[in-house]
Amino acid sequence: MIHILSVVGARPNFIKVGALHAAFTQHPAIRSRILHTGQHYDAKMSDVFFRQLGLPEPDVYLGIGGGSHAEQTARIMVAFEQEVLRERPDLVVVVGDVNSTLACALVCAKLYIPVAHVEAGLRSGDRTMPEEINRLVTDTLSDFLFVTEQSGLDNLRREGVPDEKVFFSGNVMIDTLLRLREQAERVDEVGRLGLEAKGYVVMTMHRPATVDVPERLATLMAMVQALGTKCPVVFPVHPRTHANLERAGLLAPPGAMPKVHITGPVGYLEFLNLMMHAGVVITDSGGVQEETTALQVPCITLRDNTERPVTIDQGTNVLLPLHVETVVAAAGRALAGDWKAGTLPPRWDGRAAGRIAEVLAQQCFSPSKNVME
Ligand code: UD1
Ligand code: UDP
Repeated sequence: MIHILSVVGARPNFIKVGALHAAFTQHPAIRSRILHTGQHYDAKMSDVFFRQLGLPEPDVYLGIGGGSHAEQTARIMVAFEQEVLRERPDLVVVVGDVNSTLACALVCAKLYIPVAHVEAGLRSGDRTMPEEINRLVTDTLSDFLFVTEQSGLDNLRREGVPDEKVFFSGNVMIDTLLRLREQAERVDEVGRLGLEAKGYVVMTMHRPATVDVPERLATLMAMVQALGTKCPVVFPVHPRTHANLERAGLLAPPGAMPKVHITGPVGYLEFLNLMMHAGVVITDSGGVQEETTALQVPCITLRDNTERPVTIDQGTNVLLPLHVETVVAAAGRALAGDWKAGTLPPRWDGRAAGRIAEVLAQQCFSPSKNVME
């Protein structure tokens, strides 16, 4: 029996570990525990996902909260080190690219506790993104690297990571999406908001490069207003974005944009329901780029680059600059049905977490060859 401790901290982590914990608990050779760093802590950014994904209460909650990068990372490291010294897991699983991912991988490397990184190998090539630093360091330190798309395999090979450590598992975020798709259909957030299928825009934005820069945030809101003159826009606002909108005086008074629904963050099932029936999704989220590709819903990503190129080459995603007329014109084309259909990337088939459980169980008993080759 191997004792695996999976780390969650921020919103996208819950969706990924939701799939992993389900697969681990089904595996006879694995004992699965969950540690929540508390990086995200609001009920709408954390609790709701445990409930909707059927995750148990975390076995350990560190209660770290926000802070500067150094403060947050350091606090997680100190608290996490005490926990792993107490419990000594056989292996720690970290997912994605948030500060919790980096902090826990770094602690394990110094304590000789093997680390598996799920969603390894993604690279935007942009080191001004905190996530890119987190990806590079976590991959350097990890013993098992589970990859979602071909570009991840190519990047790790180019960086000299030995092939034996790298596994093309597929995408655990899409495991969760496929598992909960029917349930999300029944939630009918679209009907509750009085929206017409394919006739509205869904938005999420939270990258510091856009929402921490007041002029760019003002342009974003001008874009929302322009879109809202053409069709309904649903914009569940991330806490970072909300704080910046408030600070900049950009939260529109109620009624100022009648077709724009600005809300707090919504639950996973509600958000999935909104995405499934949207005419187009506009975002800077990593996970949402993948989910729209899986759902074959048009996606406009307001960034200069993406670490998930398969969503562009094979999926429904396009990159656009934050330029009001350009985005409104592209959204208009999507709403008119004029968009690429895309295809599902390889191994985004709902079985990624099962593959990962199998590899970890086998490798931990006989760590000599890559069973996924
Ligand atoms: C983090 C991740 C980012 C990921 C995103 C997912 C890092 C460096 N960034 O960004 O990669 O895409 O999560 O959503 O790890 N806050 C609340 N309530 C919460 C959580 C956050 O009010 O439940 C506010 C706090 O003021 C906090 C700020 O949001 O300081 C930023 O939170 P933080 O986790 O540091 O970064 P995110 O922008 O959420
Ligand atoms: N999501 C959600 N409610 C929202 C916005 C997003 O449940 O109001 C989900 C979304 O479907 C995806 C995940 O949160 O599964 C993405 O998280 P986020 O965009 O915060 O992080 P990123 O993927 O950019 O790191």
